[in-house]
Amino acid sequence: MEQNHQSQSSNSILTALNLSKSFGGLKAVNNASIDVKQNSITGLIGPNGAGKSTLFNLLSNFLKADTGEILFEGKPIQDKPPYQIARKGFIRTFQVARVLSRLTVLENMLLGTQNQTGESIFSVIWKQAKIRQEEKENKEKAMAILESVGLSAKAHDYAGALSGGQRKLLEMARTLMTNPKLILLDEPAAGVNPTLINQICEHIINWNKQGISFLIIEHNMDVIMSLCSHVWVLAEGSNLADGTPQQIQGNEKVLEAYLGG
Ligand SMILES: Nc1ncnc2c1ncn2[C@@H]1O[C@H](COP(=O)(O)OP(=O)(O)O)[C@@H](O)[C@H]1O
Ligand SMILES: [Mg+2]
Repeated sequence: MEQNHQSQSSNSILTALNLSKSFGGLKAVNNASIDVKQNSITGLIGPNGAGKSTLFNLLSNFLKADTGEILFEGKPIQDKPPYQIARKGFIRTFQVARVLSRLTVLENMLLGTQNQTGESIFSVIWKQAKIRQEEKENKEKAMAILESVGLSAKAHDYAGALSGGQRKLLEMARTLMTNPKLILLDEPAAGVNPTLINQICEHIINWNKQGISFLIIEHNMDVIMSLCSHVWVLAEGSNLADGTPQQIQGNEKVLEAYLGG
């Protein structure tokens, strides 16, 4: 048992054990566990209201779990605030993309930057030079990422002028500003047109090849099947099944949970 636990977490980037969260009398997440292997693209599926988004909030500590343990790279993170978790390289997006409409696309990207010199106690002149250098580097990095996702022509447009799909893409692109190791994506394909869905999938595959692990909530089964090596199924807040996409596709319990609603 101990040994099994050890070997399980040694090649896992994220392991959560027995997480629970109640809202009043409703157990939105009920003793759920999940595991994401290093360098994998892992899926999280389940009917509406199964507790998937709440589980994401628990994993990233936007919501405090009532019970359970969360290990990122083998170390407990359940007592760390989200900004510290993000600094470790664990970052998430939201089901409804959180981009700021009244800022430009480039400004939204720059919001993603961290570890700026801003507050440190250097001599004023040295500090200003260093800040200017950092700003320049961040802008170059942001433009390179925007270029790679096909949004560079929109860099100076307001984010509010983007389509829903482009906004999701921008939110994903922004996570790359922090050199993430693990990205949680909540429904990256929802409300996105099929052409852009294909592009988003290609970007995810490319980022994964560069060493970034993913945990993805998605209702679009084509997306799950084409991207994920392992899939976890949640129903009514609890684990229903996990396995390869093929195993999940042929699982009677999973089918029933979706049909039963
Ligand atoms: N902040 C909240 N307060 C009260 N109930 C909530 C809250 N967030 C989610 N819920 C409820 O918890 C359950 C799980 O929701 P959610 O995690 O959004 O499911 P999913 O993402 O799988 O569709 C639902 O019944 C939902 O209404
Ligand atoms: Mg959700």
